[in-house]
Amino acid sequence: EMAEKAGFPHFMLKEIYEQPRAIKDAIHGNADVINAVAREIAKYDKIFIVAMGTSYHAGMVGRYLFQRLAKKVPIVEDASEFRYEFEDIIDEDTLVIAITQSGETADTLAAMKLAKKKGAKVLAIVNVVGSMATRIADLTLYTHAGPEIGVAATKTYTTQLTVLTMLAIELARILGTADEDYLDELEAGLKAVPNLVEEVLKHDGGIKELAESLVDKRDFFYIGRGVSVPTALEGALKLKEISYIHAEGLSAGELKHGPLALLEDGVPVVAVAPSGKTFDKIVGNIEESRARGAFIISLGDSEELGRVSNAFIRMPDMDELLSPIVYVVPLQLIAYHMAVLRGNDPDKPRNLAKSVTVE
Ligand code: G6P
Repeated sequence: EMAEKAGFPHFMLKEIYEQPRAIKDAIHGNADVINAVAREIAKYDKIFIVAMGTSYHAGMVGRYLFQRLAKKVPIVEDASEFRYEFEDIIDEDTLVIAITQSGETADTLAAMKLAKKKGAKVLAIVNVVGSMATRIADLTLYTHAGPEIGVAATKTYTTQLTVLTMLAIELARILGTADEDYLDELEAGLKAVPNLVEEVLKHDGGIKELAESLVDKRDFFYIGRGVSVPTALEGALKLKEISYIHAEGLSAGELKHGPLALLEDGVPVVAVAPSGKTFDKIVGNIEESRARGAFIISLGDSEELGRVSNAFIRMPDMDELLSPIVYVVPLQLIAYHMAVLRGNDPDKPRNLAKSVTVE
């Protein structure tokens, strides 16, 4: 088993470090097929994205990418809800995109089967080759991440995001919904993402020290805006799954509507704050949290964050639409180190399974 871990103490850490390679493989592995699939998607206006867990968060990022670039707004629903709520709404004019690492999640498979029964077109974005989801779907895109052993999804998430980014760019090209030069830039930016992830992994030592200072905290809040909302949700999920610390992810605008009442001295607030159209707004949310004594950990590319935060993780510059792939990496590392420091096995969290094959 030690050999399989390639010198890493846990599969999860190995898989976090494999992300630059996995993202490259996702790009190359889909380069020739993405256009045909995007052409199919272009025919539909009624689009659902269904998934569970981390894959569901990927679906949420997918919505932002589709709406910003292709001006199509998919409804993103967790598959356990979709299968019972949308039965009367799905028809031949519907496209259902199912995202599932394993291709075996019971709720996601049931949602796909329902969609097929109603005559909808089903596209699956899957990691495990030949899994059940690929047999149900009309079309499959693979994430090419390689086997993922750690229960908490890492490289399969960033490769799902890579595939969704490629799809949204291609869809926008086909539909003519975004500036061609901008789409070319974004595509070039995506190819540079593996290097950006490589750069971020260099912060691992600093993140471990940060985790040491946070190990006794009981509640964490993760905030983001726009395309960073799902990143905040995913950061909170990672922490819950393996460190067993309570964490909440939310849109920063929602802070004032309840969670602010829970902020007191030293409560960690992790702000996912890439430069973009709502950057000033999240700085405002950071300041209001700080005024209540919160301990602010911010991720971003603006030095301004260094001034308003207790800990600042400096991220490389990139287009905001690519940031979900890169910004989740420090959040994976925070969760990993917290888990290990608390004596948990991050590869095998209590009560959880890699693949949930029962409802
Ligand atoms: C389980 C795993 C998660 C995963 C979710 C969905 O809960 O522990 O890491 O995100 O299932 O799995 P899927 O294989 O459908 O992506």
